[in-house]
Amino acid sequence: MAEDTVTICDNRTGKTVKLPIIHGTEGVPVVDVSTFYKEFGMFTLDPGFRSTAACNSKITFTDGDQGILLYRGYPIDQLARQSTFLEVCYLLMEGDLPSPTQYTQFKEIITHHTMVHEQLLNFYKGYRRDAHPMAIMVGVVGALSAFFHDSLDVFNPRHREISAHRLIAKIPTIAAASYKYSVGQPFVYPDNTLSYTENFLNMLFSVPCEKMRLSPVLVRAMDQILILHADHEQNASTSTVRLAGSSEANPFAAVSAGIGALWGPAHGGANEAVLTMLHQIGSVDNVDVFIKRAKDPDDPFRLMGFGHRVYKNYDPRARILKESAHAVLADVGRADDPLFRLALELERIAQEDEYFIKRKLYPNVDFYSGIIQSAIGIPTNMFTVIFAVARTVGWITQWMEMMTEGPSISRPRQLYIGHPRRDYVPMDAR
Ligand code: SDX
Repeated sequence: MAEDTVTICDNRTGKTVKLPIIHGTEGVPVVDVSTFYKEFGMFTLDPGFRSTAACNSKITFTDGDQGILLYRGYPIDQLARQSTFLEVCYLLMEGDLPSPTQYTQFKEIITHHTMVHEQLLNFYKGYRRDAHPMAIMVGVVGALSAFFHDSLDVFNPRHREISAHRLIAKIPTIAAASYKYSVGQPFVYPDNTLSYTENFLNMLFSVPCEKMRLSPVLVRAMDQILILHADHEQNASTSTVRLAGSSEANPFAAVSAGIGALWGPAHGGANEAVLTMLHQIGSVDNVDVFIKRAKDPDDPFRLMGFGHRVYKNYDPRARILKESAHAVLADVGRADDPLFRLALELERIAQEDEYFIKRKLYPNVDFYSGIIQSAIGIPTNMFTVIFAVARTVGWITQWMEMMTEGPSISRPRQLYIGHPRRDYVPMDAR
């Protein structure tokens, strides 16, 4: 069968080149432009990478028009309803669902890597108590590179696997400690008798004077939040981890860079921004004013938790979280939670508004996750930390995929629009 190609012609020279079209297993095909500069002496320009695929990947597939999300081929709604976060970690890392023996072995490994070096806990003391927990996460996860560096060869598959196990295991311990530090409570050590998510909630909420009683509904809701946030192909923070890792940098330092990228309100910081926005709106009576502001091109206000670079349909994760919110709020006796009612009304009004319909702006993963986390007892400034706990497996799996293929440093070019060459003017001549 003739190769699919795109023909590009430079009308200044008449040069015509056929560029190959490459089809994946599913989704949008790509045009291979890697020879473009050699053929035409020009770069392609795509700020924000709206039309650019940065890599091949087998891990996660999203179809933004259909609102489809697959982890290693499995639909996110089936995983959210039938799997556990730890099993999804295995699936993302290894590529297939584990057998009972494989799962038991994986669980054993992760469980026995949950503690951190005692010296690492000293890093928290350098922060003010009111430091944003994401600032602590960036610093402490980056500091892990000081504990696992000299003996770590990023080109050794076994070293990469151990680094992934360490990160998946330790990130809840580090995250919970960032919360404990901010509220002036003692750090809680991991409890190996608990499941991954029970252990995380226990480290967050138990205190020396009393063990936390975990509601199975809340544990399940948190586990589902972690599943839903685990990976999402080449989003901004994952692309940051890949780019940092492409220089053969320490994986803990690369993940720390990813945490920094995730923090922004246009990305993972949106869940915190949604709760702030809902409190700002306050009541259904004010929704119209804020919808009007969101539509005003001169007003920087945007409806947080709405819109997505990829999803031009309902984010499949938001659909599951909306269902979970009903169950969690009922479990904590807040079935009529005013913020949830406000969020539902905000979604209903936006979905009927031409501005949002035309631009295909739907609720995304961040719109309902904060309401659930609030009901579980997670403070708003910890929402993005929870996102980072979940996304760590995605980041490190994508890093492993890149390193396994053999990294080549990512180094984009630019269109220079600054001053042409000019000579230095001495101070007394200016
Ligand atoms: C995540 O990439 C991923 O996969 C990310 C993520 C993951 O799992 O890793 O899914 C997690 O980051 C989810 C997104 C969380 N962010 C937010 O909820 C913040 C609010 N959303 C927007 O900032 C925005 O929708 C983005 C950043 C998410 C996407 O922006 P795009 O793709 O650059 O869209 P755009 O700015 O080109 O918007 C197109 C139009 C514009 O209007 P016009 O210029 O056509 O008149 O839609 C408007 C935008 O002004 N628009 C919004 C809007 N989002 C887009 N208007 C009001 N409110 C919004 N939320």
